[in-house]
Amino acid sequence: MKLLTTITLGLLTTISLNAKTTMCFKENHLSMTTIETIALDGGECSSSKNVQDMKKAGWAVDDIKIEKSTNGNNYIYIFKKDEIITSTIDEEKLEQKILQRLETRKKEEQIARKKEVKVRMSKDGKKLYINKCQSCHGAKATELTGNSRDLTKINFFDFKTTIRDYGLGEYDRGTAFRMLPYANLMDSRDIKNVYSYINSLKPKKEQKDLEKEIEAESK
Ligand code: HEC
Repeated sequence: MKLLTTITLGLLTTISLNAKTTMCFKENHLSMTTIETIALDGGECSSSKNVQDMKKAGWAVDDIKIEKSTNGNNYIYIFKKDEIITSTIDEEKLEQKILQRLETRKKEEQIARKKEVKVRMSKDGKKLYINKCQSCHGAKATELTGNSRDLTKINFFDFKTTIRDYGLGEYDRGTAFRMLPYANLMDSRDIKNVYSYINSLKPKKEQKDLEKEIEAESK
């Protein structure tokens, strides 16, 4: 996966700048001229490094304080150093994370696409229903026209087979002659679409998961 490798390489190392300080001192030192060459106590100097050594190690003098003491002077040095911190992210974990993210995005897209199809289906179904079915079955598809049942109470399998069987002359609740021309006018797509619209007319909690129902039927 080419995309993945470019992302991976781009994110592998992060660099950050971190300022570090340390405090060293020398108590009761007599001469100003030797203070730069004598080992300082405390901090990163730890009685072994003088100012020169510290500078060689990348430290810069940030501040100096000199106080009179009983026996000469007390010197306090503040050193500062900018540190570059590089941290490396575990490549394998990162790759997993990216794959996971791609996977969830794929799922989200699938769900969105299904919703879109559902809306489209019920839109097409709405047009068909209003033009060709509503006059007999009612605006909510619940009207008991002739001997018909409430259409919102019929599942997809029965809906599909009754319509097909009207066309074949194999289904009649006593008033099939009134329904026959409308059964003949629908192809399998129209049947799905109009069923989808009727489904959307039901109260929310009675609505079926059409995707699943239609998928199960088409197997
Ligand atoms: C002229 C009136 C009329 C129109 C328009 C009409 N129907 Fe019907 N429909 C009926 C009648 C009457 C029945 C009951 C027939 C019988 O006795 O079997 C029926 C039955 C049905 C049934 C079977 C119901 C059951 O109880 O098994 C379905 C499904 C159905 N219609 C769907 C539709 C659809 C979808 C449309 C629009 C494309 C439509 N009908 C248009 C009159 C109509």
